[in-house]
Amino acid sequence: MKKSVIYPGSFDPLTNGHINIIERAAKCFDEVIIGVAKNSSKDSILDPNERVIILKKIFKNNKKIIVDEFEGLLAQYVNKRKVYTILRGMRTVQDFEYELQMATSNNKLNSKLETIFMVADGNHSHISSSLIKDIIRLGGDASKFIPKIVERELKKKLLKKG
Ligand code: PNS
Repeated sequence: MKKSVIYPGSFDPLTNGHINIIERAAKCFDEVIIGVAKNSSKDSILDPNERVIILKKIFKNNKKIIVDEFEGLLAQYVNKRKVYTILRGMRTVQDFEYELQMATSNNKLNSKLETIFMVADGNHSHISSSLIKDIIRLGGDASKFIPKIVERELKKKLLKKG
């Protein structure tokens, strides 16, 4: 039986930290489904279609990695995909409380759903999507933390917005 996992997130924007988790997950599972959340409550910079296009370009050569999007509850999306294992990355102790709350709520909403965690690589544990947006907005160099294509798209949006 194929072992699949869903890696959900806002990916606004995708960072090298996300890529690291996805590539490591692809070594542990037969299939990694990246679920781009469309209804993120955060003020998004890239629209969901743009995020999906970026992810598809980045992972086009890895057949084990599938890029999908979902709207509404993650606990319902897993039913649609018939994949009940969720993967989340854990960077710092600050992530823990939020992740614990989310994993527990998701399991209460759908008892088939299990969340597993992968510890972020030490080279990426300081990166967050909001930090990246700040760096670019304030004219800094974020090229070490994000792929080129993400940097280009963010600069277009954030430097235009002023
Ligand atoms: O990249 P993020 O912002 O940490 O990802 C959070 C995400 C998108 C996984 C989470 O907000 C989510 O699952 N959103 C879908 C709506 C939902 O199910 N909310 C209840 C979670 S208990």
